[in-house]
Order: sequence, then structure tokens, then C-alpha cells
Amino acid sequence: MAEDIEKAVARRRTFAIIAHPDAGKTTLTEKLLLFGGAIQLAGEVKAKKDKIQTRSDWMKIERERGISVVTSVMTFEYGDNVFNLLDTPGHEDFADDTYRTLSAVDSAVMVIDAAKGIEPRTLKLFEVCRLRDIPIITFVNKMDREARNTFEILDEIEEKLALDTAPITWPIGQGKTFSGTYHLAQNAVRRGDAEAERTAVHGPDSNRAAGLLPDNERPAFIEELELAREACRPFDLQAFREGHLTPVYFGSALRNFGVRDLIEALGDFGPAPRAQEADTRKVEATEEKMTSFVFKIQANMDPNHRDRIAFVRVCSGELKRGMKAKLVRTGKQMSLSAPQFFFARSRITADEAYAGDVVGIPNHGTLRIGDTLTEGEDILFRGVPNFAPEILRRVRLGDAMKAKKLKEALHQMAEEGVVQLFQPEDGSPAIVGVVGALQIDVLKERLSVEYTLPVDFEMARFSICRWIEADDKADLHRFIESHRGDIARDLDNDPVFLAQHEFSLNYEAERWKMIRFAAIKDYQ
Ligand code: G4P
Repeated sequence: MAEDIEKAVARRRTFAIIAHPDAGKTTLTEKLLLFGGAIQLAGEVKAKKDKIQTRSDWMKIERERGISVVTSVMTFEYGDNVFNLLDTPGHEDFADDTYRTLSAVDSAVMVIDAAKGIEPRTLKLFEVCRLRDIPIITFVNKMDREARNTFEILDEIEEKLALDTAPITWPIGQGKTFSGTYHLAQNAVRRGDAEAERTAVHGPDSNRAAGLLPDNERPAFIEELELAREACRPFDLQAFREGHLTPVYFGSALRNFGVRDLIEALGDFGPAPRAQEADTRKVEATEEKMTSFVFKIQANMDPNHRDRIAFVRVCSGELKRGMKAKLVRTGKQMSLSAPQFFFARSRITADEAYAGDVVGIPNHGTLRIGDTLTEGEDILFRGVPNFAPEILRRVRLGDAMKAKKLKEALHQMAEEGVVQLFQPEDGSPAIVGVVGALQIDVLKERLSVEYTLPVDFEMARFSICRWIEADDKADLHRFIESHRGDIARDLDNDPVFLAQHEFSLNYEAERWKMIRFAAIKDYQ
């Protein structure tokens, strides 16, 4: 039976985990799924990740697409909430995929290694979240190992991220003596995740808190906790929701500490699906009519059928199996006959989905990244970004007879977001652009395996690519006319300026002040 839309929306929490490699994202993901009942045994997610350590392994796995597609989004329930955890690729060469995924979440969990603090990739991902005002919950992991002083960790978050912190729990001991978490406001202790409920205590000096520690550590813990209560900021829901403050939790994903605290935090004050900005208006999650957008495409799961799964984030209304939806880019109707939900290891047909849910829609190339689906309204969601590629290559094809096939294949890959494709105005061969070098390897491998197109890549004359815009169309036209050899068109036929190096870009930008050279373009 259809759930009431408002109730369904209020229950949902759609989030991603951001972390520097090795901080414990995989371990935490697994524990979240375990406590959410989505998997039976720890080790399943991890086993998958361990296979993907090397380049060639990664590509093999990519070919066995079934696995990665299933873990792209994981749904589990805990208490009254439905959680949709969107996975992001671990390798930074696939950063653009990560950024697109972050456009589909309402909050993020930032995992920090307690000994290492804020690491470079955490910082980068945090900045993307900040651009989108995504509220962040911090999980300081690996407290069972040698960790930094707790106050120091909080200070580092505040300084490096310019983000206020509010510790909600405090670690009881650390390293070998780490034995639980103390809830500062509730005065309650949870020794480990085996305890579903916290136990109320009289204070940090109680047996159930300080008593867990060896005698010599007790006084320091009691003092630290008193200090934390005086010196640390209290939690402020509004500041958190606006992205100015992060609640901080401590734990050990490996040893099952603090994971329940974190799930409860997501449930208690993690935001429900938020309103989404479209080109002409804001769409509220509780509106009756279905709207959604595509943020990820996984193609050729079955190479014989060239099928694709488009991952769609529902923004409002109810997406029902069998319904007709309008693909706004083309104006055409499409039938959503077999939408799917994903769990840790399996997928099932989705009969109905609500704002915040992510469903997979099988299609044969109808949908591309950034597409909006509605029940008829002509609106386009903004904010699935396209980043200017940092590596540009020309594709060299051994067999000239296959030029048309190559063109089609590249077009499909570009629609999936594997590469960006640029067609030079002067008619020279296409240029592909990627953000990370590994993407070129994946492209080469897929062209060979899926399309039997052995290709090579050669350096392009250019190293920088910028989308060009101007308020006055005539200015843009003049610029294009006078730079014909350096202009190409992207998949949407939007013009880009290709520069040999930073210097020539700056030179042109100086001379053509009416032209904007953009490094980021929203799809559509
Ligand atoms: P990632 O996805 O962020 O890259 O990290 P992952 O979960 O794979 O964890 C990286 C390493 O840190 C793993 O060890 C993992 O077991 C360990 N780890 C994760 N959480 C904790 C924790 O809370 N405490 C401790 N002590 N270790 C933790 P590894 O040696 O690389 O792998 P494994 O062979 O031990 O599984």
C-alpha cells in the first residue's frame, strides 16, 4: 500500500560517507548495514573492496558490473528510519563521480582517523559538501588505536575546515583502554554497539563511566569530561542544518563502538529529504507529483544487451512502478516499468519510491546524467555538475572503417559520464577529457572489451578546457569566430575554449573581458 507521502519523506535519510582512503569508510559502511540488518555478516563489503586494489582488478570488477552497481546505493532500516547510503568511488581519479553523487544526498558522514585528523581528501570532499550546504556529522574512528588528544582533534576540525564542532559523545579511554562512549547531554553511557540502549549514569565519575577505565586513567577522564562540558559548544540543530556546525561522535567501526550513536544521530537530526532547486522553482519533497533526476549511470551491465541503469534520486511525490514520466530534455514520455531498489547484495523491483530514495531505471540509452523526469511539468534540476577535464586526449583509431562505431561508443560513454567528449569546430578528430588518469584506462578497456574497438590515445595540443559564455550572444559569436581552431562543442553542443596552457587562457581572459571562462558547468 502506498505510504502517505509526508510520512514517507519524514522517515528518509539519504547520505554519503566522505573520508580519506584508509580512514575506515568501508568498515563503517559494513557496520551500518550490519546494524541496519541489511547484511548478516561483517566482511561482505570489505571483501568486495579488497578485490579492487589494483588497476587491472578495478577494471575487471568494472566489467563484472553487477557488483559495483549493487553497492552504489545501499538501503537499510533502523528504528523508524529508512536510510539510503550512496557509495562514492574510493579512488580520487573518479572524483567527478563522487561530486555528482554528493548532489543527490541530504547529509554526509565525515570519517576521520583519530590519529591522523583531517587529511587532504577529506578536506577536498568537505569543500564540495560546503558548496552545497550539505550538513555533516563527524565520526572520529579508530579510537581503539593510539589517538590524538580529543580536544586537539576538535580544534583541528574547527581550524582546518572553519567549521564549529559540538561533541555529542566523548570517548571513554582511548587505544587499548577505549571502552565506550559517554553522551554529554544525556549523561548516559554505551559500552559498545552490542548495547542497543544507553544506560543513564550520575556523572563521569560513576562506576559505569570512569569505572570502565584503569585506576590511573580515571581522574584524567573525569577532568576531561568536565572540561568538555564547560568548553565545548552545545549542539545547535539550525547551525548544523545550515552547514556551520558539525556534531562529533567517537568510536571504532572495527570494534563496534559508536556506530549505533552515529545511526541514531542520522535518524534524530539528520535532515529528511530537502527541497531541490530546479530552474524555475524550488521543489518541496512532500509535493504530490513525482520529480527526480539522474545523477549516475552504470552501463553495459549485460554487454550483450547494451543496457544501462540510470540512478535516479526522487525529489518529490511518488515514483510508482509502471508510471509514465516525462523526460524533460527531450519532451518525450517514458514508461518506468521496472524501477529497482538496491540492497547490500541484491536488487528488487521497486513498487514505490519517495523523495530521498534512489532507484535504478534500466534503459537502453534514453537517460543521461543530469536528466530530469517529471509527471509532466517542464522543470530542470540544477546542480549535477560537470567539471572541466584536467586531461585531454585525442583518440587514435587503428581501423578507419570503424570511425562511426567509435563515434557512437564515445557518445555513449560521455552520456554515462565516463569521459567528456569535445568535437572541435574545425572538424579535426574528437577530443576526450577526463578528470583522473585512471578514467582513460577504463575508457580504453571498455572500448576494447565492449565495443571491440582497439584505440590509442595521443596527447592533444591542449591542456585546458573552459566552457565559454557571455551575456551578449554577439560577443560569444565574435570570440568563437576569431578562435575557430581552439573551439570545440560538448555533448550538449555548448562551446568550450581549449587552451594550450594556463598562460594562453589568462591572456584571452584578459583581452575578452565580456567572456566568462567556466571550469564547472551544471548539466543541462
Ligand atoms: P577505507 O574504506 O576508508 O579505505 O578504510 P577501511 O574501512 O578499508 O579501513 C582501512 C583499515 O583500517 C583496515 O585495515 C581496517 O580494518 C582498519 N580499520 C577501520 N576501522 C578501524 C577501527 O575502528 N579501528 C582499527 N584499529 N582499525 C580500523 P587494513 O589493515 O587495511 O585491512 P584489514 O586487513 O585489517 O581488514
